[in-house]
Formats: sequence, structure tokens, C-alpha cells
Amino acid sequence: MHHFDYKNGRLHCEDVSLDAIADKVGTPVYVYSTATLTRHARVIADVFAGMDCLIAYSVKANGNLAVLSTLARAGCGADVVSAGEMQRAMTAGVSADRIVFSGVGKTRDEMRAALEAGIHQFNVESAGELRALSSVATSMDKTAPVALRVNPDVAAGGHPNISTGKSGDKFGVPWDDAPALYDEVARLPGVEAVGVDVHIGSQIGELGPMRAAFEKTVGLARRLREAGHAISRIDVGGGLGIPYAEGDAPAPPADYAAMIRDVIGDLDVQVILEPGRVIAGNAGVMVTEALYVKPSPDRTFLIVDAGMNDLMRPALYNAHHDILPLAEPAADAPTVAYDLVGPICESTDKFAAQREMPAIEPGARVAFMSSGAYGAALSSQYNARPLVPEVLVDGDRFAIVRRRPSFEEMTALERLPDWLT
Ligand code: LLP
Repeated sequence: MHHFDYKNGRLHCEDVSLDAIADKVGTPVYVYSTATLTRHARVIADVFAGMDCLIAYSVKANGNLAVLSTLARAGCGADVVSAGEMQRAMTAGVSADRIVFSGVGKTRDEMRAALEAGIHQFNVESAGELRALSSVATSMDKTAPVALRVNPDVAAGGHPNISTGKSGDKFGVPWDDAPALYDEVARLPGVEAVGVDVHIGSQIGELGPMRAAFEKTVGLARRLREAGHAISRIDVGGGLGIPYAEGDAPAPPADYAAMIRDVIGDLDVQVILEPGRVIAGNAGVMVTEALYVKPSPDRTFLIVDAGMNDLMRPALYNAHHDILPLAEPAADAPTVAYDLVGPICESTDKFAAQREMPAIEPGARVAFMSSGAYGAALSSQYNARPLVPEVLVDGDRFAIVRRRPSFEEMTALERLPDWLT
């Protein structure tokens, strides 16, 4: 469910026409809907109501400060994977005791910053990381709350580039090594085992693989408790999928929550969730303008002013995004099969192949739907293109929440060496 609809023949975000935003800010531009973000946060909270539950929004999906601040106000904590993300979350008003720190490659400096802040939990992914955390925490006279991220050796079923729970993936502690590593946590100074963490991948539509992974994880938690470890939290990661195309029917949050309640059963734990896409994905679109229509012998290219640097998902994962014209097409409008491409000098700079769409004239605008997660977050300045701006809509008002940088800003960190001046 989202708040992007045609009203009076023009595509709107809530009560603001996307044309009005593009007129003011230019294109390409990302537009986020406050009502959609808060609704998604509320839906997740509602389906877990009555459970001791921390919704740690995964900042990597969309770390814009205005988005984070919206979600912090809606009650979300944060799942971060760098000191930078932690700082973003805290700047946006998330309190440190609602932050979990994930990731396979935390540096000692990042550990220090997180210990200083007093975060809720470190999700530790290797023996080496555990020992480093122990030594950093000990040197600071602190105790780090630790959950080991275990690798349950379960195939998630999504795109291989975003699947993380199989043996052979770089993520998590190998399943068979986990009990001994918990014993090491108990022996080491400066670290304390508080939970077990698992995350098997992203854009997962079927609950089966998640259930398999969570059942193994809960079984491990019970055995760890019997062995004397004070396990009081299960972190189930993120990964719940969203519909990108008509006909997609990923498991709804209510079913996901029912499955988790069932698997957790009478185990008395806090459940930590790390949802990213399911909160931000359908809350954003990227608006771009058609520059040229280029017929070629076997296809028609529609060249738009957004490139793969602005929205990487199609190039990286062959991902599908629905593409809607800002001007509502007549129901019986004839369609053209376009290859939608950007201006970047790469063959992978292609958003869609042979996409049937109403005819688009140069100057017309289209919206890439479901771009709120891993859209702007993955954008770059490749080809010396300015970072794509971001706009947040709330009802009938909107604000630029990241503006397009100037050339001077884009090059501000660069210096000529003295032999070139
Ligand atoms: N927790 C951990 C440890 C993760 O690695 C991730 C995502 C999440 C939570 C949030 O997952 P979500 O609920 O958003 O599925 N760039 C890719 C997705 C990469 C996901 C990386 N990790 C894409 O655009 O599809």
C-alpha cells in the first residue's frame, strides 16, 4: 500500500503533483511519501503488538536524515552497518539504546564509537571480530552486548546477489562453530552474550526459508540457555519482500509476524527486527524526464535523464521497477515497446527492455515506482553527474531534503598536487 496515485490526470505523491516537484527541483529526483513511511512502520508495529519487540529500521535502505527522522518519530530504532549510519540515526533522533550494529567488517574505531554511544547490541560475525570487540571494550572499561550472527545454511530463494544465509556466503558464523564461539564470549572480558542474530537475505517473498532459519536459530538459543548463556534476544534480521510488479504477492507482514510468534513460542525473548525495504521501498519513486526517442532497426530506445548512477537496481540485480507516466494515459492508449536507457556510457545503463508503455514524447516525465529503498542510497556521481536530489512530501506540502550539489560542491574535496599548479 502506498500513496502514489493519479489525481486529475496527473501522478501525485499524497496531495502533491509530481510535476510540481519536478518543475521546482528538476529531474531526476527522488520523492518520498511521509504517509507511506509512517503507515509501513505502523503496520509492522501493529502486527507485532503485545510482543517485546524492537523495530530497528535498516538504515542502508534509505538513510536520508528526513526519512530517518520520520521513522524515528514513528517509533523505529535503527540497524546500522557503519559508524556513519549510526551517526545518521542518532542525528535523526534515534536513541543509541535502540540501535543494533550489523556487518562483517566493523573497524576498531567503529566499535569504539558504538561503545561510547552505548548501543543496544553488536551483531558479531566472526571470532576475529569478537576478539577485537573484547579488547576494545576492555580498554574502555565497558561491556559490549553481543549477539552472534549465525549462518543457518538456508537458501533464501531471492536474487543470488542479495542472498546471505547459505554456507559459502561471507555472512555469519558457520553454524557448527556457533556453540564454541558462545563459550568463548563467556570466557572473554568486555563482551557479554545477550542474543542470537540471523539474516538470510533480502526481497524474500516466501516465508518457508525464513521459518527454517528461525527454527534453527530458536533451537540454538534454547540449547545455549541450557548451557548457561543468558540469551534474552532473538534478532531475526530484515528481508521481507515487497511487490515490485503486478502479480507479485510477497508474504504480508501479518503472516510474517504470525510465523515469528509461532516459532518463538514460549521462549521469553525480545524480538529484534531489521526491516528496510518493506518500510521504505514503496514509499519512494524516482522521477525522470524523457530526452529522446531513438528508433533503431530492432528496437526503440527511450533515453531518459536518469542513469544507472541514480538508480542502480536494474543494472545490479536485473531488478524490475514499474514505470508510470506522470500524465495519466487513456485506458485504451496504444503502447510502444521501449528499451528505457540512461545517458551513462555503460551497456548496463538500461532500466527496462522491451517494456510496453503508452507512447512517451521527449519532455514527458515518468516515475520509477518502488524506488524508496536502495535507490538514492546506492546512487553515485559516476560520469560526474550530481547526486540525485531527494524530496519528502507530507500531505500537501513538500521539502527538498537533499538538494542537487553544484559543480563546486562535487569537486570540493579534490586538490591539485603542487606539481600541477
Ligand atoms: N539486516 C541486514 C543484516 C542486512 O544485510 C539487510 C540488507 C537488512 C537487514 C535489510 O534488509 P531488507 O529488509 O531491506 O530486505 N541493494 C539490494 C538489497 C541489499 C540488502 C542488503 N542487506 C537491493 O536493492 O535489492
